[in-house]
Amino acid sequence: MKEVIILDRKFREMIPESTIGKRISEIAEAINSDFAGKEVVFLGILNGAFMFASDLFRQIRLDARISFVKLASYEGTRSSGNVRELIGVNEDITNKHVIIIDDIIDTGHTLETIVEELSKRKVAGVKVAALLFKPEAYLKNIPIDYPGFNIPNDFVVGYGLDYEGFGRNLTSIYTLIK
Ligand code: IMP
Ligand code: MG
Repeated sequence: MKEVIILDRKFREMIPESTIGKRISEIAEAINSDFAGKEVVFLGILNGAFMFASDLFRQIRLDARISFVKLASYEGTRSSGNVRELIGVNEDITNKHVIIIDDIIDTGHTLETIVEELSKRKVAGVKVAALLFKPEAYLKNIPIDYPGFNIPNDFVVGYGLDYEGFGRNLTSIYTLIK
């Protein structure tokens, strides 16, 4: 069992790097075929999604663009429900198919904030790709079109996800040992 310690907490490996890589290839393939011939703008949600966005985007074979927005809702190991926008959508997304790339969908507050903002713009459509999804924590009805892995309602780190800013550089996903 691979374990890591970050600050005051212990975590156990839950999804190994190779499994993450395979799943991302499947998602990329699905997007490549679903959006063939379409104008797509990927929108990564910083900070957590930077690694997933990078690995997913390098496997995209469309003439696509990528941009990032910065939203923050987490304080420690809990979602605060209060989503702050730190960098907005600057890209021209008019009449484009927007694919949101997020690391994890927990309560869905962050996702709802960005989807509501996009719905005020004249976009061709909005889809959601999220590496991790916590169905038990999800409070919204927005469909997750490209979910990587459904996971229990536990706190995880690694592959872009952090605990108090640390752990993002771990190449696998680790879950908190309670
Ligand atoms: P939501 O708004 O509650 O859906 O939370 C979404 C954001 O909170 C994600 O994009 C992550 O950045 C962060 N987050 C949610 N769950 C976790 C977790 O288990 N570990 C680390 N960050 C998380
Ligand atoms: Mg995030």
